[in-house]
Amino acid sequence: MTEKQTWSQRFESALHPAIARFNASISFDIELIEYDITGSQAHAKMLAHTGIITHLEGEALCNGLEQVRQEYHQGQFRPGIDAEDVHFAVEKRLTEIVGDVGKKLHTARSRNDQVGTDTRLYLRDQIQQIRQQLRDFQGVLLDIAEKNVETLIPGYTHLQRAQPVSLAHHLLAYFQMAQRDWERLEDVYSRVNISPLGCGALAGTTFPIDRHYTASLLHFDNVYANSLDGVSDRDFAIEFLCAASIIMVHLSRLSEEVILWASEEFRFVTLKDSCATGSSIMPQKKNPDVPELVRGKTGRVFGHLQAMLVIMKGLPLAYNKDLQEDKEGIFDSVNTVKACLEAMTILLQEGLEFRYQRLATAVTEDFSNATDVADYLAARGVPFREAYNIVGKVVKTSIAGGKLLKDLQIEEWQQIHPAFASDIYEAITPRQVVAARNSYGGTGFEQVRQALVNARIQINI
Ligand code: ARG
Repeated sequence: MTEKQTWSQRFESALHPAIARFNASISFDIELIEYDITGSQAHAKMLAHTGIITHLEGEALCNGLEQVRQEYHQGQFRPGIDAEDVHFAVEKRLTEIVGDVGKKLHTARSRNDQVGTDTRLYLRDQIQQIRQQLRDFQGVLLDIAEKNVETLIPGYTHLQRAQPVSLAHHLLAYFQMAQRDWERLEDVYSRVNISPLGCGALAGTTFPIDRHYTASLLHFDNVYANSLDGVSDRDFAIEFLCAASIIMVHLSRLSEEVILWASEEFRFVTLKDSCATGSSIMPQKKNPDVPELVRGKTGRVFGHLQAMLVIMKGLPLAYNKDLQEDKEGIFDSVNTVKACLEAMTILLQEGLEFRYQRLATAVTEDFSNATDVADYLAARGVPFREAYNIVGKVVKTSIAGGKLLKDLQIEEWQQIHPAFASDIYEAITPRQVVAARNSYGGTGFEQVRQALVNARIQINI
C-alpha cells in the first residue's frame, strides 16, 4: 500500500520517508495484532448481522482474517514500516488474501475506535495474567509465613529497632498489599472492559450498526455512551498504570528489605546461589541483583504513569495522534510488572534462606521490650505516661551500665517501682513480647494464626 493509495485521492505525493518512519507505530503496535484481528472479526460479523454487508462477505472477511492470524503465527506475515500501523497492516494483508471484499472491512469503523478496542482487549488479558501472578506471589508468601509463625524478627520504625514481631506477621503485611493490588486491578478491569467500537472517528456512523452486538461478541460488559469520549478516553490506561505503579511500590519495598536483610549489617537472610550474582572483581561478593533490579525498574513504571497523565492533560476532544504514545508505556509497564512479579516470587520461593540463629539472637540484644515494661506498670495502675518516663530512665541507666533490661536484678526492679515482681522477666522475653500483642491485627501468635487462616480462604488455594 503506497501512501497515496492509503490516504485517498486527496493526496498527490507520498510521505517523506523520515516522516513515514516518524509517524509509524507498527514497530510496537504489532503487539496488538491478535486483538486487532479478533476485533475486526467481531466487526465483520456485526456488518453481516445488520445487513450492511452480506453473510457471504462477512464469512470471507472472518476467514481471511483467520488466515492473517495463522500467517502471523507461522512467521510468514511480518509487516514492515510501509504499513504504518497494525490496523493498516492487517487490512492490507486481508485484502491481498480475499480480494476486493477486504476493502469492505473498514465500513462504519475508524482506526480511532479500532485502536481503542484493541488496547482494551490487550489490557483485559494482561490484567488477568497479572492478577494470577499476584495470587501466586501471595501463595508463596503464605507458604513461608505458615512455617514461621513463631520465628521472631526485629520490627522497626524509622529503621530503628522498635518491637519484635512474628516473621509471619511481617510477610503477611506484603500479602495484604498484594491483596489490594489484586482487588484494585479487578476494579480497573471494570472500566477497561467497555467497548468504544462503533464510535467511529468521533461522531458515530451513518450505518445501522449494532454496537451491543460487537460488544457481546468481544465480551465487553458495556459500550461507551458518548462517541467523542469513547475514542479519546484513556482513563482506563491511566488507572492501569497507576495500579501497576502501586504494585511496583510494594515489590520495591519488599526488595529494599531483602537487600537490607542480606547485608552483613543485618544478616537475616542468605541469598541462595540460584538467585544471587557475583562480582567481576571482588571474589567474596554475593549480590542481591534481583531485588535491586526490581527496585530499579519501579522508576520506569512510575515514568509511564506520569507520561500518560501528561499526554492527556491538554488534549481537546476527540482523537489526537498524541494518543499513539499511550502504547509503549502500557506495554513496557505490563512487561515490567510481570517480569518483576515472576522474579520476586521465585526469589521468595527458592532464593532466600532465613538465618534462624541470627534472628533469634537479634531479638534479644536490644531494648525492644521497653514498651512492655511500661505496659507492665500501666497494667498495674501506674498511668502510662508516668510508666513511660520511669522506663526511659531505666533504659538510660542500663545503657550506661552496659546492661539489657533482662539483666536487671529483682531488687533493682523493685527499687525502680514496687509494682515490679518476678514475673517481669517472663513479660519481657521476646516470645512473650510478641505473644502479648493479641489485639486484632497485631503480631500476637493467636492473631497471626487467625490471619493465616483468613488469608488462605481469601486466595482460595
Ligand atoms: N496508530 C494509531 C494509534 O496508535 C491508530 C489510530 C490512528 N488514527 C488516526 N486518526 N490517525 O493511535
